[in-house]
Amino acid sequence: MNRLENCINGKNTGDTPIWFMRQAGRYLPEFMEIRKENTDFIKLCLNSDLAKEITIQPIKRFDLDAAIIFSDILMVPYGLGQNVTFKKGYGPQLKDFQIDVITKVSAKTFTKNLKPVYEAIEKVSREINKKSLIGFVGAPWTLFLYMVNKQSPKRNFSFEEIVKDEKLKNTLYRKLEEIICIHIKNQVDAGANIIQIFDSWAGLLPEKKLEDYCYEPTKRIVEFVKKLNIPVICFPRGIDKKYADFCSLVKPDCINIDYEVDPNWIKENIKTSIIQGGLDPKILLKNKEDIEKEVKKYLDIFRDQPYIFNLGHGVLPETKPETIKFVTNLVREYK
Ligand code: CP3
Repeated sequence: MNRLENCINGKNTGDTPIWFMRQAGRYLPEFMEIRKENTDFIKLCLNSDLAKEITIQPIKRFDLDAAIIFSDILMVPYGLGQNVTFKKGYGPQLKDFQIDVITKVSAKTFTKNLKPVYEAIEKVSREINKKSLIGFVGAPWTLFLYMVNKQSPKRNFSFEEIVKDEKLKNTLYRKLEEIICIHIKNQVDAGANIIQIFDSWAGLLPEKKLEDYCYEPTKRIVEFVKKLNIPVICFPRGIDKKYADFCSLVKPDCINIDYEVDPNWIKENIKTSIIQGGLDPKILLKNKEDIEKEVKKYLDIFRDQPYIFNLGHGVLPETKPETIKFVTNLVREYK
């Protein structure tokens, strides 16, 4: 077993594994080189040779413990036939969809629509040897939110507004749960050996709605992944002390924490899932001393238990690649 597999299986070998959310992306000049010539982001995700190359770029540069497939959580609405585009400096834009068209998309059609994603996974898995290969999905809530809101909730968001059609909500949730499981199974069949579930907007849910909209559907997906004998990492971002409820109900093998929750509190209150992440990505824009102090803070807090080093959200585009190398070295040299 490699470092990451050991850790996620509960062994504390004193050898902290490290990878970064958004480790492939705009902060890397070699990514920008490819991106410049591929202005359509969805098409880029569907080019299996380029997706493979981009996935491997940060592994080549930093020798991280895991590759995460270059794709996007919004490939699921795309695979269901919703129009998705990424406008520069704006974020994702989705078009209207018809629920009765979406519900008729079969597993076969969905799989065909995303075939290059699975081919990219096959290609990566042939090249990365013993390193882990992380496949991922968006959680039902975050995908539902993008599909109905049609843009980032940073721009406009009202919970009541997007769930006001109860029938639509129930039908779409059911379809998403089914198709997310298919997307996971396809990734595992192609060679993904860990699955991460991103619920980036869990923190926008009213507390009373967390169970229905986040915990329960995620729990069924986690159970599905466990049946495939694959470790599963959950990232319900922004739920603060509800991370404890989430873990006791959903029981993921591993939980990625964000940078707003107190890591000491997490250490005291979560004993049943391995902890991953936490460091504020904005810290990586500071000077080396500040970075070192914060990296060591997380390593010190979790030193007596298995811990996967990562961030509390994705690498920011302004990050210097040298900083990723610096942090990786700090983690490798930590005793
Ligand atoms: O982590 C990795 O390196 C793997 C690839 C990956 C991407 N998106 C590539 C990407 C992963 C795991 C994601 C997940 C994702 N996508 C999430 C969950 C994690 C999170 O950030 O909260 C969400 C919410 C999305 C949706 C999404 N995709 C948004 C909101 C945006 C635009 C804003 C932004 O951050 O750029 C994207 C575009 C996107 N996805 C880029 C990349 C590399 C940037 C594309 C570009 O402009 O070049």
